[in-house]
Order: sequence, then structure tokens, then C-alpha cells
Amino acid sequence: MIESRPSVPPPVATAAYRLRCVGCGAAPRAAGGDFRCAECRELFEVVYPWSPGGEDAIAHGETWRALWQARRHSNLPLDQSGVWRFRELLPVLERPAEAITLREGQTPVYTLPRSAAYAGLQQLWAKHQGMNPTASFKDTGMTVALSRAREMGMAWVACASTGNTSASMAAYAARAGMRSLVLIPEGKIAWGKLAQAIDYGAVTCQLQTDFDGCVRILNQVISRAPVYLVNSVNPFRVEGQKTAAVELMEQCDWQAPDHIVVPGGNLANGAALGKGLLELRALGLLDRLPRVSVIQAVGANPLVRSRRENGGRSLQPLQAETLASAIRIGNPASWRKAVQVLDATGGTCEDVTEAEIAAAKAVIGADGIGCEPASAATLAGVAKLRAQGWIQAGERVVLILTGHALKDPEYTLDFHRGKLPPATVPELDYARRPPLSLDADPAAVLHVIESWQARP
Ligand code: F0G
Repeated sequence: MIESRPSVPPPVATAAYRLRCVGCGAAPRAAGGDFRCAECRELFEVVYPWSPGGEDAIAHGETWRALWQARRHSNLPLDQSGVWRFRELLPVLERPAEAITLREGQTPVYTLPRSAAYAGLQQLWAKHQGMNPTASFKDTGMTVALSRAREMGMAWVACASTGNTSASMAAYAARAGMRSLVLIPEGKIAWGKLAQAIDYGAVTCQLQTDFDGCVRILNQVISRAPVYLVNSVNPFRVEGQKTAAVELMEQCDWQAPDHIVVPGGNLANGAALGKGLLELRALGLLDRLPRVSVIQAVGANPLVRSRRENGGRSLQPLQAETLASAIRIGNPASWRKAVQVLDATGGTCEDVTEAEIAAAKAVIGADGIGCEPASAATLAGVAKLRAQGWIQAGERVVLILTGHALKDPEYTLDFHRGKLPPATVPELDYARRPPLSLDADPAAVLHVIESWQARP
């Protein structure tokens, strides 16, 4: 059997870890079901002996890097996962061979020449996390969270979601033989995502509230029922998500780019990638940190406001509104972690309009790369930061495209047909490519080709 043939040496070390509160530093032996500190209600992060400031700063960076490389030739399911391939950086499982994996991670890095020109850059790259098994970056975290949930003997996992989290959780729960409960805002998530969650067997409840309301209800549910919470407040999920930064650095031949730019909703992903980068530096595998920056939609920009109004010391929740449904979040759980990453890496946060997001998505599409609207906020943000002079034309920038174009095809069609709110912005007309209705006549089609020949 291919699956049982060991082809690389076992790990050189196991990851001893503990939890630490990012607010008050408390280090409990275990977290409660809501993953919040009993002292200050902040979130936990996982720390290791080799974490930044830890007692074992020397660690095994070079050895581990060689091991990760060697595993690329292995047929073990664990080694074929772009998350577990880096398992020295993860909380160790009691039975690693039983990790719940769909071979997540291993996502491509593409060049985006048209998008680079659009943003005023010489070059631009995108790491496409939408190429994960359920079509979003969430899979990199779910493989870890669900593996732990099953080891703990939990029967149920649950999440509140704007779409991607629910589909991802449902898939991994199905693989683990566990039940999953999804709370989503009624009528506010893309149908494709709802379909995925249902297909993978989730019990799906549409609540007459928004994402933030779903989170509130779920917190009450988990305090009364034995379900394991897999929203990104779960620090083990964040550990999986940080491996995208490790994989990206490997893909960059360990030459850190100048900037990594992510869309921000609940703010865990930017925090996770930053954590990964800081750990790589502590392990001696990076001598320079990329700046990690977060882009929000103008109508869902609590982090941007917090940084503008009080330097990121406190965050005022708001009523979120944006067509980029994935990041329609007004009360982001991981805001403090995100602020710490912006500060530690010298990154920034910025907000972009609906029109800017829609245009950026069409430009990325013209590079042959599809993504969902929230992901396109990154290009819109980079164009804005470039125009402000915060990013220089020759700098190396990597966008994290978090989700797949097929999540929200209606948005794409509405934009190209001129039916989105940015329809009123004439500058965007050049980017529109609506499907044409023609007579069944070759002359009509030839005429279309001619009219397009004249365009740049
Ligand atoms: N991009 C996509 C495609 C997402 O699905 C999300 C979050 C984000 C960006 C924002 O990441 O929350 O870590 O800042 N989606 C969640 C969900 C909330 O339920 O699928 P974040």
C-alpha cells in the first residue's frame, strides 16, 4: 500500500507546547471550550520552546528545513499535506498517522503581470489559497483543529461562518467521522458554500442575524453542549494556518518578499501568517521579515478605524456591510493578535471601496487567476498603498488570495454586466467583459473579434 510506505526519516523533535494568553500572558494547562482566557477574556496562542523569546532559541531550523524538503518526495499522506509536512512547527498529535488530512496546502504561487501594472509595481505575486481542497485557506487550519477534536474524542464540531469556514469544517468533520454544526447568516452566504457544507453532511442553521450575531449564539450553544469550537479563536486552527507562511518562504527560496498582503475579516489569517514568519525568524530560517499588511472593506473596517483612532489599543465593533461576504465582519475576534503582527512586522492596514474591490477582481481575472471578492481586496489595497508611496514600485509583494472564484460567480457576472453598485463608476467600464447575446451568425461573432482587436 502506498499509504503505509515510510520514505523519509521520522521527525527530529516533537513539538512541546503550551498555551499563552495574548492579553495578560496567563498560561493555563488547558483552555475552556470558548478558547478565551478566564482572567482577561482575550485569546490564546500556542507557544513552543523555540518560539520568539522562548528558552530554546537555538532549535533545529536547518535540520527541519532539510527534512521538510525531503518529505516532498514522500507518499505518506502526512507528508503530502502542505500543513503536516511542517509538523515540527505544530502541536504534536498522539497518533500523527491518524491526522485528518485532505492533502491541504501545497498551493501555487503565481506571477500577476497585469495586476502588477494596475497597482504600479514592476512585479507582483499571488499565493492562491483558494486552490485548497474545499477552495479556501480555511483547510490549512481545519486539518489541525479536526485532528485534535477527534483525538479528544469529541463527537461534534461547530462554527459560525460567512461561508468558507463552514464548508471546510464540514469536509474535515466528514473525513473524521464526526458531526458538524454550522451557523450562518440567513441569505448572506454564497450558495456554493452552503451547498458544500450540506454535501459534506453538516447540520446547517441559517440564523436571522449577521456573522457577528452567529458568533454570539454559538458561544451560548457551546457553553451548554459538548461541541468543539473550530472558529479561528481556536488557537490550534491558527497553527495550521501559519504553515502557509512557511510554504510561501520555501517557494521564495527563503528570500523573504518585502510585503505580504491579506484580506482581513475576523483577522486570524493575517495573525497566523505573521506568527509563522516570526517563528521562522526565531528558528534562524529568515533573516528579514516581510511586512504583513491587512486590507479591509470600507464598510467592514474596524481594524483600520482602531489603528487610525487609537493606534490599535482598543477596537470598537461596528455593523459590517460589504459585498465581499467573507470579510463582512464588524467585531473581529483576533484583532489584538493582528495588531501585534502589524507592529512586529512593520505592516499596515488600509480599507478599500466596493468599486476598488470589484475592479481589482476583474484585473486579477484578466491575469488568468480567479478569486473571490474578499481576496481581491488585497490588490485594491496594494494599488492604494502604492499610490500613497507606502509600497515602492520595485518592491516584492505577495498577495494572499484566500478563496476561489467559484465561490461567488453571481458577483462576477453582476460586475461584468454592470449590475453591481460600482456600476456607477465609469472608470471601471474598461474592465467589464459581459457575456454577449448574438444572432447565431458567424458574421456577428467576427464583428465582436474586430471590435476587441481595437482595444488595448
Ligand atoms: N478571505 C476569505 C475568502 C475568507 O473566507 C475569510 C474569512 C477571510 C478572507 C478573512 O480571514 O477572518 O481570518 O481575517 N472567512 C470566515 C468564514 C470568517 O466564515 O469563512 P480572517
